[in-house]
This record gives sequence, structure tokens and C-alpha cells, in this order.
Amino acid sequence: MNTYKIAVIGGDGTGPEVADEAVKVMDAAAAKFGFKIEKTNFDFGGERYKKTGETLPDSGVEELRQFDSILLGAIGHPDVAPGILEKGILLKARFELDQYINLRPVKLFPGVECPLKDKTPEDIDYVVVRENTGDAYTGAGGFTLKGTPQEVAVQSSVYNRFQVDRCLKYAFEYARSHGKKSRGAGKENTLGLVGKTNVLTYIYDLWERAFHEMGATEYPDIRRDYYHVDATCMWMVKSPEWFDVLVTGNMFGDIITDLGAITQGGMGIAAGGNINPEGVSMFEPIGGSAPKYTGKGVINPLAAVCAMAMMLDTLGEAEAATEIENAVRYVTGEKLESLAAGRMGYSTSEVGDLVAEKLAG
Ligand code: IPM
Ligand code: MN
Repeated sequence: MNTYKIAVIGGDGTGPEVADEAVKVMDAAAAKFGFKIEKTNFDFGGERYKKTGETLPDSGVEELRQFDSILLGAIGHPDVAPGILEKGILLKARFELDQYINLRPVKLFPGVECPLKDKTPEDIDYVVVRENTGDAYTGAGGFTLKGTPQEVAVQSSVYNRFQVDRCLKYAFEYARSHGKKSRGAGKENTLGLVGKTNVLTYIYDLWERAFHEMGATEYPDIRRDYYHVDATCMWMVKSPEWFDVLVTGNMFGDIITDLGAITQGGMGIAAGGNINPEGVSMFEPIGGSAPKYTGKGVINPLAAVCAMAMMLDTLGEAEAATEIENAVRYVTGEKLESLAAGRMGYSTSEVGDLVAEKLAG
């Protein structure tokens, strides 16, 4: 029997509540599909920081390295200045564990209210492969003459060929295995590069050259498209059915996936994976810690459940992942009144129960 060692970081705000429901469904999946989960909880987050001044210590990173995967609830505490926990925990884990892919499906589930007119689950079903270690996130930059009227601030977007190539390779492979043709939803597998070659003439020139070189030599079976990022935002609203797999840099990926999330019904359902294909990955609902709902039992746990399903898929439990997603589909389609916190018609833990019960059959 396969055994997976999973680190669970509940984190801040509603993070622990939604992580609990994901763990509940994960246990139900383990029982049904015959694998074993060994969970270890970690208390990294705002409360620990307030007590000890520690975010994610280096020793914590070394501990996390020993796991098969990490499930994260949410990071962000109202009493802690913005940036400290985000940089100290979330970004530190992404960087130190070299989770160089941020995989973000944009998928409208049945029964979910979509803000886009006349769009159905068939229309909104694509994936953004966001590069997760480079770009403006490297912290390169600084101030001169700080505090004076002549102050200058510089923040550099940085990419090297190695980072771009490894991200593109992942994206092409993903398009080959999960693109529309591969999942029976279209005639072709397509990878679209999202850039800004008309202004960012260095960075996205590098991306575009690398994209076409790799595509032409190693992935001739995959159709290649290119979109400027501003136009991408427009098409994500007007014609999301055009998209299959998209790949882009870290900053654009951050921005467009929040837009994607709202088109799929909002943060209650949007999941992401910080993936190191050769190492330890970390899966999270992308919605944040929602402090005002903490402890009320009203937050939607489905994003965390979907993140956990992505985790199982990455660990090789594809059938379990598919079945969990089908159970979520049933719950959104047949049970929930809304995806919004407090308006689901069920409590947080009841939603977890509904998914777990459907899965158990
Ligand atoms: C995300 C978040 C993070 C990011 C923040 C919290 C640092 O917005 O996961 O998309 O910018 O990557
Ligand atoms: Mn973001």
C-alpha cells in the first residue's frame, strides 16, 4: 500500500478550517482508493510569529523537505504588517523548495453562478501555468535618495533562460497530457504564451524565442498561440472557451489568475499548486485567510478540497483526484445554494461531509 507523508500547514484565519475539511476528504479518498496518509501539522503563521517572531525558519524548511507533499490553508494575519508572513512563509517555501510552477486551473463547476454572461462549464475550463520563482518576485531592486523628493525606486523583473526553459517544458508536457485533445474536449492540445512582447522587449522576447524553439523541436504536436497579457484579460472575460493551457511569467500569472478565479465562481473554489516536479510541492486554496470569517464555520472549503485533489493527482493518485473532483461537481451542482461564505446553505464542515460522503458512495 502506498503511504504518503503530508505536511499540513493550516496557517492563518480560516486556513485551518478549510485545511481540516480537505484532510477529511483526503482520508475518505485514502480509505476508498487504498492508500495511506501520514499527516503532520505545522503551526507556521501569524499567531506563531506574534509569539516567537519566527515566520518559516530554515529548520522548518528542512523539515518540510522530508515530506511527500504540503497542504497549506492560508497565510495572512490582520495584526501582522502585509508582506511579512507572505514573504516569510509562502514565498520562502516556494523559493526554498524551488516550487517553480504555480498551476492554476480555471474551471467553472456546475451550479456555480458565473459573472460572465451565457458562459457554461464547457466554456470555462483552462489552466494557467504560472512561473513561480522569477520575475518581480526575486526582490531585485532598491531605493536611492529614499525619503527625498528625488527618491527613485527600482524593482526588476528577472528571468534567466534556465527558469524559462524548465517552466516551458512543464507547460508543454502538461498541454500534451492534459490539453483539450487529451481530455476529449477538443481537436488539439494548445499551449498559449501570455506575454507583453510589445513593451517588455527583453523578458518576453526571451520567453517567446524559448517557447517557439522548444515547441518546434520537441513538441510539434502541440499548437502554439501567443497573447499579450492585456488582451488575455479581455479574452478571459469575452471568450474563455478559446483557452486550453496558458503559460506566463510570475507577475502576469499572479494577476490573471485572480481574474480567472472570479470567472469560475470566486475564491471559494479556486485552487492552486506550487509544484516542484522533482521535489516537494505545496497545494493551497488561492483565496487567502478571510480573517473576518475566522472560526464562524461559514467559509467555503471547496478550494482547499480541490487543492488537495491536485495534490493527490501530482502524487500519482489520479483516479482519487478525478473522483474527488466529481464529488465536488455533485456538491456544487446539487447541494450548495452559493459558493459565497455564509450563503452556502451549509456550514464549512457540512460541505466537507457532503464531499466525503459522495466520494465514499
Ligand atoms: C498568490 C498571492 C501571493 C503571490 C502573495 C500572497 C504573495 O497573491 O498566491 O497569488 O503574489 O503570489
Ligand atoms: Mn495572487
